[in-house]
Amino acid sequence: MGRAVDKRGRMAAGQKPAIVAPRPRASITVREAEAADLTAVAALDRRVTGVAKATYWQWALAHYAGGPPERIFLVAEAAGGTLAGFIIGEVRAWEFGSPPAGWVFALQVDAARRLSGVGSRLFEALCQRFRAAGVDRVRTLVDRHDHLILSFFRSQGMTAGPSLQLDLELPA
Ligand SMILES: CC(C)(COP(=O)(O)OP(=O)(O)OC[C@H]1O[C@@H](n2cnc3c(N)ncnc32)[C@H](O)[C@@H]1OP(=O)(O)O)[C@@H](O)C(=O)NCCC(=O)NCCS
Repeated sequence: MGRAVDKRGRMAAGQKPAIVAPRPRASITVREAEAADLTAVAALDRRVTGVAKATYWQWALAHYAGGPPERIFLVAEAAGGTLAGFIIGEVRAWEFGSPPAGWVFALQVDAARRLSGVGSRLFEALCQRFRAAGVDRVRTLVDRHDHLILSFFRSQGMTAGPSLQLDLELPA
């Protein structure tokens, strides 16, 4: 086995401090979302965000679930069919002149099932779909103050992308 840290005290890639016990991994299945997932998806979103958006989720399932390979809506199901989380992505050529990339634009994991690999499994499955759809990059937009989501995407290997969002409040 290699050294835990190098001469400058940095840990080797893939190693964790000895005091961190491995977290148990959730037993879940990742599958394509279906129209019948509406109630569970809307309820999970409501628990996470505190806002009820049933009409939006109805549209999202109709648009992304079972759609073409460029539109992907996956759910993570725990034992007994309970919804543990979901992820939505799309292959888009949004940016000016740049080739299409896979964009992640929704990801939620039930609070009771976090930190057990559900988000990672969903992200991996989405990246596999992106690859199969012919793109070689994955991108997302995050709130720069949202440390949780930044930590999550960093853990998946994502780093700052090439674009910078600009913003202007229009006069009344
Ligand atoms: C972000 C979110 C999807 C992560 O899901 P998850 O199933 O808990 O993620 P994982 O268990 O796969 O965690 C993977 C890594 O992410 C990082 N991470 C996850 N939660 C973290 C936290 N609370 N603090 C710091 N890092 C965290 C860790 O590096 C973790 O790896 P580790 O377990 O080896 O330490 C989940 O917390 C969530 O749904 N948050 C609320 C909704 C949200 O913000 N959605 C994004 C905008 S649409």
